[in-house]
Amino acid sequence: MNLKDKYINFFIGKGHKQIPSAPVVPENDPSVLFNTAGMQPLIPYLMGQAHPYGTRLCDYQKCVRTNDLDNIGDTYHHTFFEMLGNWSLGDYFKEEAISWSFEFLTEVLGIPKERLAVTVFAGNDTIEFDEYSYNKWMSLGIPKDRICPTKDDNFWIAGETGPCGPDTEMFYWRSEDPIPEKFDPEDTRWVEIWNDVFMQYEKLADGSVTELPKKNVDTGMGVERTTAILEGKTDNYTSSIWLPVIGLIEKISGLPYSGNEKSMRIIADHMRTAVFISADHAGIKPSNTDQGYILRRLIRRAIRHAKSLNIDINSDWEQQIALMIIDLYSKYYSELSENKNIVLEVLANEKVKFNRTLEKGLRIFEKVASNNADIDGETAFHLFDTFGFPIELTVELAKERGLNVDLEGFNAKFKEHQEKSRTASQGKFKGGLAGNGEIETKYHTATHLLNAALKIAVDKNVHQKGSNITDERMRFDFSCDHKLTPEELETAENKVNEWINAALDVTVQEMPKSEAINSGAECMFIEKYPDIVTVYSIGNDKYGIISKELCGGPHVSNTSELGHFKIKKEEASSAGVRRIKAVLE
Ligand code: ALA
Repeated sequence: MNLKDKYINFFIGKGHKQIPSAPVVPENDPSVLFNTAGMQPLIPYLMGQAHPYGTRLCDYQKCVRTNDLDNIGDTYHHTFFEMLGNWSLGDYFKEEAISWSFEFLTEVLGIPKERLAVTVFAGNDTIEFDEYSYNKWMSLGIPKDRICPTKDDNFWIAGETGPCGPDTEMFYWRSEDPIPEKFDPEDTRWVEIWNDVFMQYEKLADGSVTELPKKNVDTGMGVERTTAILEGKTDNYTSSIWLPVIGLIEKISGLPYSGNEKSMRIIADHMRTAVFISADHAGIKPSNTDQGYILRRLIRRAIRHAKSLNIDINSDWEQQIALMIIDLYSKYYSELSENKNIVLEVLANEKVKFNRTLEKGLRIFEKVASNNADIDGETAFHLFDTFGFPIELTVELAKERGLNVDLEGFNAKFKEHQEKSRTASQGKFKGGLAGNGEIETKYHTATHLLNAALKIAVDKNVHQKGSNITDERMRFDFSCDHKLTPEELETAENKVNEWINAALDVTVQEMPKSEAINSGAECMFIEKYPDIVTVYSIGNDKYGIISKELCGGPHVSNTSELGHFKIKKEEASSAGVRRIKAVLE
């Protein structure tokens, strides 16, 4: 049995319910591009909302972290990884969490406790030393010298604000060297494998910390890293997780892994992430903004490294690799097989697009670089704008030659270009359009209309639970305990079209969060908003205000811009949540 199955079985045995991995693109959280930890989709429940599956949950979650993209190519960084986690939502706390972590590591995975060490929270000005965890580890037979209290590394939070708390991290001695008696977390031969966070606080925007309604546990274990450790590998890419993919890249390129590690790791890693992003329900396509830009960068960087291994870019190399990844992971993530054709098409299209300009762009780069001169901003922008070189790619190419890129110059050119296209698109709110196309903006406004219409057609207590927009359709999740009747759907659709035809104004106001809430503005997760919020209202003198929501925008300025609204489908999303798919025609 592999690590994932062992983990899930173990926690099911401890009364946990397995929840499905949430999409890699968060559905309700515009503040992050991707889910970066297992707890991210669970934030509302850590904040106190009841979870439909109960108070003990476990899962493996698809995570994407692209902040250290440049590190990919070493032995242990990945842009995509799976995180195992178990949660207590106000159920068990430190006693069980630590006991079960220890039991799983030593009894299920068979790790000798001599190879384990832990850190615990040392305490700071406001929160005390986590003595309970310290004593608990000692009672399990971890010697004092292998328990290290730290202040800064043992308090966990996903971003700047939100649920947080002291944690205890478990480390494994990954080396042939004799194990030092005293544990030093800075010694890289100790590798962190698991983190138990005791989430009992919420950090607010002003930096203060308050108690959450319940004491929760949030844990996270990296599948790639732990698998490599269990298999005795010091290079993650030589573990059973990567072996088939690396083997295929060796076969396609006709080159051995040894001596070509960096490019092969980059290709393997980036292709896997690209497959997962493009198979995700969010329908991300390569583009020049947000998640689409990350996807584009990953594919283009993989192509560039494939080329450096002399792989014939025009062959079906990327399809072969993607098919293998889909095959390896479909058992756990059915969206990979369901969206197989989409994934293959995304990769093929992006390859063709980039391949058209890659050669020429490389020649231009070579010409400038051959003078051993740094790459000026204008050239970098030219490579970006005309030849589709993500700026990071130009920087990487330059770095390989020991050259720099004038990033300031590039940014200035980029801004100039943006200004031009912004003034070209009229009638939109200032600043709100970055990263959003005209069609997405329309769908965004339609989402607010539908939210308001459902309150009339179905029940005033219907609330938004999520939404997802592409340039082809909108998807809207809302709380509702029944399948909508044809009449309810028709009323909602008619209402939206009535408001579109009434040419209602969309206005935006900034105000303190408390004022917005008191004024009855609708919002999904109030705790996620900053102190000063923007509120979008839709209405006119005749209709009054039909919708008022906290929202970052952007929106159209008048509903008449939307065209005709049509509901295509209504279905269950999860327990107590329905989903509507709709289009603007
Ligand atoms: N959320 C914690 C982490 O990512 C468990 O480390």
